[in-house]
Amino acid sequence: MVYIAAGVPLKNPTILAAGILGTTGASMTRVIQNGAGAVVTKSIGPVPVYGHANPSMITLNADGGKGQTFGYLNAMGLPNPSYGEFTQEIEFAKKNGDAPVIASIFGGDSKDFVAVAEGLMPSKPDAFELNLSCPHAKGYGADIGSQPCHVEEITAAVKNAVDVPVWVKLTPNVANIKDIGLAAQAGGADAVVAINTVRGMVIDIHSGWPVLGNRAGGMSGPAVKPVAVKCVYDLYEALEIPVIGVGGISCYEDMIEMMMAGASAVQIGSAVYESDRIFENIWAGAQQFMKENGYAFDELIGMAHRRK
Ligand SMILES: Cc1cc2nc3c(=O)[nH]c(=O)nc-3n(C[C@H](O)[C@H](O)[C@H](O)COP(=O)(O)O)c2cc1C
Repeated sequence: MVYIAAGVPLKNPTILAAGILGTTGASMTRVIQNGAGAVVTKSIGPVPVYGHANPSMITLNADGGKGQTFGYLNAMGLPNPSYGEFTQEIEFAKKNGDAPVIASIFGGDSKDFVAVAEGLMPSKPDAFELNLSCPHAKGYGADIGSQPCHVEEITAAVKNAVDVPVWVKLTPNVANIKDIGLAAQAGGADAVVAINTVRGMVIDIHSGWPVLGNRAGGMSGPAVKPVAVKCVYDLYEALEIPVIGVGGISCYEDMIEMMMAGASAVQIGSAVYESDRIFENIWAGAQQFMKENGYAFDELIGMAHRRK
């Protein structure tokens, strides 16, 4: 069976999230071979970027740092070789993997976004995902994605320039995510993707210094799942286009919960650090759950909205 997420036929509804292993054609092919239904690339911009100074990613542990890991904090700063260098990586993944490749792109304005999208088109990505949500890159991501007028304008410009589906990835770091989702929809988005990381900071009490090279960053992993579930729930209620859920998914129960909130498909990021077989494990568990409970796939989408 083929699962269609906003115009993209997926092998199964588990997708690699942007920024995790989506940096080379070889790593994307490996993720597809390990069971992902599709992959999203690292976010690619108009010029090469080295990213922020290290440490750029840390684990978050309870109990003064000695307890269980509850998430990650990163401020990579969107390192990427720019679109000119990256077309060959998409081409490689498309040739060697048998699943859709979605190009995540960013820029400072609609001109940048269109230049990157047009530059990547020859490599034939199956869709574009607009990164209007990274919380730690000045002038990019959430800096522009927090304002509905910019989101609508950029979405409409990319939609006009390409002939493949356009997904818009949203930031949870706003007062009302529905307004941002509605702006993406008004710009012609085929789907919204929620959420990018949740803005955060860690300070080393022995030195008094913020730990990340960029001082602040974005949280991901298990701790952000309830934030993501609420964002997906709100977006499902407000929008007519599909919502793709991402944030803290690490087991099949998380995937089912995200679908009940309203997600038509899910993306998985941080949990890939725990196991590279995560996609096949989660999808097998979800299928078993549906069988045991007599649920059809479509019936799960938005189920929590009908329970009142
Ligand atoms: C190390 C790292 C790098 C990331 N890079 C990107 C990126 O380039 N573009 C983007 O849209 N999101 C990026 N993200 C955000 C993830 O795609 C995802 O939205 C977020 O981590 C929440 O999902 P998770 O809890 O499953 O990781 C990154 C996340 C991490 C942890």
